[in-house]
Amino acid sequence: MEIIQRNVLKEKPKKGTALGFGRFFTDYMFTMKYTASKVWHDAKIEPNEPKSFDLATSVFHYAQGIFEGMKAFLQPDGEIAVFRPEENWARMNRSAARMCIPQFPVETAQKGLETLLKLEKDWIPNEKGTALYIRPTIVATRIMLGVHASTEYLFFIILSPVGSYYAHGLEPTKLLVEDFYVRSSIGGTGEAKCLGNYAASMKAAELAEEKGFDQVLWLDSNEKKYVEEVGSMNMFFVLDGEVVTPALVGSILPGITRKSCLQVLKEKGYRVSERRISIDEVVEGARNGTLQEAFGTGTAAVISPVGFIRYREQDYTINNGKMGTITKMLYDTITGIQYGTLPDDYGWRSIIR
Ligand code: COI
Repeated sequence: MEIIQRNVLKEKPKKGTALGFGRFFTDYMFTMKYTASKVWHDAKIEPNEPKSFDLATSVFHYAQGIFEGMKAFLQPDGEIAVFRPEENWARMNRSAARMCIPQFPVETAQKGLETLLKLEKDWIPNEKGTALYIRPTIVATRIMLGVHASTEYLFFIILSPVGSYYAHGLEPTKLLVEDFYVRSSIGGTGEAKCLGNYAASMKAAELAEEKGFDQVLWLDSNEKKYVEEVGSMNMFFVLDGEVVTPALVGSILPGITRKSCLQVLKEKGYRVSERRISIDEVVEGARNGTLQEAFGTGTAAVISPVGFIRYREQDYTINNGKMGTITKMLYDTITGIQYGTLPDDYGWRSIIR
């Protein structure tokens, strides 16, 4: 694969710098282009530098674009491991299908990712709780104001050394249950990882933040009755010993950390179910003590305990605002596999050689 070198490398964040999420970017990126006549072509590694786009470029107007989130981890023996990349590529092509974006060749994307990671290995942070976040994205690049699927696209992968997604790290998050705005509806784009889903979530998120909450807990758009997800995380509840997560009804992102947690829980013998969960069931459980734990899962968020929720002006504390034992077990198992401190029993570590 062609590598266009840059003349001067960036300064890396110093050891001990609070990385936060998505604030620093590495020296290089992977790109490939699509045109109707040449399909996907021109795959290469190039300096991660600003690019210029005509202001009539269609993604700026109609948000025809999708992205993914993965992480690379430095292993104790110095190797690089990516967590389940094949799952992200498959989901990205499903998102592409929903957004009328042509299917991309997974082998080229994977080869691009591997070449990029080997080149940028020194950017992988190795402090506890850190990783190199991988952001593959496809945007519509045709210069056109008609509302039609583009005939030109740019695929790129940028990398960002990150710490924890929430400023308060692993401290339990506070969620505000949103019963006016909705994230998605059946038949909409909620199960695709497309740009517009995130733009649509910002108003409610801003209002929640003003009230001191970390995120919004979305309900279904139809009845505003059933719990969906958090936008950056899928949700799990431990209700009377059973681990419950909302079923993938079409409006919820099919998370890869979610899927991994379900597999770990089932193999460890927990009672697990994917079903509809009403917000009434959750708050009733919080009231009578049967709601033992709540947590969110996601690539950026990993496994994040949820300690507080507010619904219709009533506040509920879960597990005394502390991380529960099942949450902790999942956090330790998933991060142990990711950081290479536990055996990879499920074959989830993709070692980059
Ligand atoms: C991820 O977890 O990778 C996400 O894409 C969620 C959010 C940061 C947008």
